[in-house]
Amino acid sequence: MKLSGDFLKMKQNKEKIVMLTAYDYPSAKQAEQAGVDMILVGDSLGMVVLGYESTIPVTVNDMIHHTKAVKRGAPHTFVVTDMPFMSYHLSLDETLKNAARIMQEGGADAVKVEGAGEVVEKIAAMTNAGIPVVAHLGLTPQSVGVLGGYKVQGKSLEAAQQLLEDAKKCEEAGALAIVFECVPHQVGTLVTEALSIPTIGIGAGVDTDGQVLVYHDILSYGVDRVAKFVKVYGNANELMNQAISQYVSEVKTGEFPTQHHSFTMKEEELMALYG
Ligand code: KIV
Ligand code: NA
Repeated sequence: MKLSGDFLKMKQNKEKIVMLTAYDYPSAKQAEQAGVDMILVGDSLGMVVLGYESTIPVTVNDMIHHTKAVKRGAPHTFVVTDMPFMSYHLSLDETLKNAARIMQEGGADAVKVEGAGEVVEKIAAMTNAGIPVVAHLGLTPQSVGVLGGYKVQGKSLEAAQQLLEDAKKCEEAGALAIVFECVPHQVGTLVTEALSIPTIGIGAGVDTDGQVLVYHDILSYGVDRVAKFVKVYGNANELMNQAISQYVSEVKTGEFPTQHHSFTMKEEELMALYG
């Protein structure tokens, strides 16, 4: 299994880091088999798996439940689990307790938190306590209500400067990597050059040290619209909908099951049964 030090070496060697989200046993197994370097149990879970409108309703218990399944599917892959909405804002104490639960009960190898500001001291405290932390800047979906929507971040001079400053603070606080979501590609290049820790982009251009995408988005699975930064690599919706419709229709018509799917008892037992 790769560890945080390996990701630093990958950046130094200009070897791209691949991160993909996973939320359960089969998706984690597929990610590990494909050679994904880091799995993210994202709180996007709330939307793509649990059917909520945003990531806000996701709880620490939800994250633990799904992290356990992911670890069973990908025991040899570095797993990062999102700390959900408000689980790292109330106090240092509360933050450390929640992060510890995600690692001890869930089995996560690291946690991810959104934003800088007050979150920077939480990153430092967790790192000091032995909890590896990934930061997340740019478009931070847990703050969608404050940001005013899912929009590109860091487009103006001031916003880009703030982003760079925040990124440096996260690095100083001990973050092992930083996810940059929905920022201009020039900003992605700038932060990647400015930081010694790896940058993982999602809609952050071609130069970040790694890329992350959501499992359901790249497979077109259960989602019907994807963002500009997504590339769709397969059509699970089509495949699965077709298969399920065929199952429904074959049971209705009697085409399934056949003798081939049936069990047989010995002739003499059958005779006795009928008396
Ligand atoms: O929850 C998530 O899937 C994420 C990625 C989009 C970075 O945070
Ligand atoms: Na997330």
